[in-house]
Amino acid sequence: MSENTIGFAADLTRRSPISQKAGKFTESVIREMTRLAQQYNAVNLAQGFPDFPAPEEVKEAAVKAIRADINQYEITWGAKEFRRAVADRFRQDTGLEVDTEREMTVCCGSTETMIASLLAIIDAGDEVVVFEPFYENYGPDAIICGATTRHVRLHPPDWTFEPQELAAAFNDRTRAVIVNSPNNPTGKVFTRHELELIADQCRRTNAYAITDEIYQFLVYDGFQHISLATLPGMRERTITINAMSKPYSFTGWRVGYAIAPSEVTNAIRKMHDFLTVGAAAPLQQAGATALRLPETYYQKLCQDYLARRDRMLAGLEKAGFRCFRPHGAYYIMADISSFGFPNDVEFARYLVQEIGVGVVPGSSFYRDRVSGAQQVRFTFCKKDATLDEALRRLEKLRA
Ligand SMILES: Cc1ncc(COP(=O)(O)O)c(C=O)c1O
Repeated sequence: MSENTIGFAADLTRRSPISQKAGKFTESVIREMTRLAQQYNAVNLAQGFPDFPAPEEVKEAAVKAIRADINQYEITWGAKEFRRAVADRFRQDTGLEVDTEREMTVCCGSTETMIASLLAIIDAGDEVVVFEPFYENYGPDAIICGATTRHVRLHPPDWTFEPQELAAAFNDRTRAVIVNSPNNPTGKVFTRHELELIADQCRRTNAYAITDEIYQFLVYDGFQHISLATLPGMRERTITINAMSKPYSFTGWRVGYAIAPSEVTNAIRKMHDFLTVGAAAPLQQAGATALRLPETYYQKLCQDYLARRDRMLAGLEKAGFRCFRPHGAYYIMADISSFGFPNDVEFARYLVQEIGVGVVPGSSFYRDRVSGAQQVRFTFCKKDATLDEALRRLEKLRA
């Protein structure tokens, strides 16, 4: 060993081999559950990816793009044709016009879009308001940016929040609130009144709203998806995030985007450029085809998911779960107290190993282990045959 090597090794013993940030969060519980489901040959109702095919014409468009040698780096902030299609769809859904040259950034899925957006506006010590239970990425995202999170509790069964608690979470250090509607894991669809309360706080404290709208097309029971950017005074302080992952069943394609005011977009583009350079070029071409699918596609998508939701709700109730009926997205939070397990993690382990069904322990959506200790999350973005097999296995729980 050279002297240098000895010196380096000695340094490593004095210092943690990993950064403080990396030490502050664990690996994703959801993705870990997917690995366990594979290991035990369980039906995976943990991670939210469909097991049915994606639209044929979009796959064809991707093949065509590759055959046409669209193989090189795209413009960092996204292929022109894809940005145009996003802007057209956004106008149709919200009535808002977007300047695709100045107000849009295409990233690798909504995951990268979220972290690039936060990095673009957050300084160390800033605060970010997050609703709890939350999609698990937001915590690590905030840590990576050096932000502190403040939480506002959503209370079952309807996952409503207390306006006073919301107001108390905002202060002069608040930089942003993350609003995910339709919501993962609860299936909550924020009402116009609730969004107005959030918008009031953003205006009062001069904070941004970052919306995660990837389940926008999956809304049931007469609920309506409303983009926060459409509320008065919110267009100029909202970063609207969306992706191809959920509405077109392409979670592995990694194409998402942010719509934001031009100054913020400039900063998002810089972060995105140095994080990943760009999203997959041929898949952006295919993404434009996806975004131009007719309305009947979205109607059928929603009808099919509604049928899956109802199938799962009926089966889970029969197996002994108390379900919190979701009005959007493709997850069901269920209460497990009737099964007498000490906590959600032991229950989830039992389900995956002994019953053969993978779920996500509820506590991974809360800061403390106690709050979700009697809840688990099921996804229902699967073929009927997959759901039926899972329900058949879950019947063993009653025995
Ligand atoms: C609320 C929410 N946001 C973001 C993501 C990740 O999206 P993407 O695959 O576009 O990165 C998920 C995936 O489950 C999600 O549920």
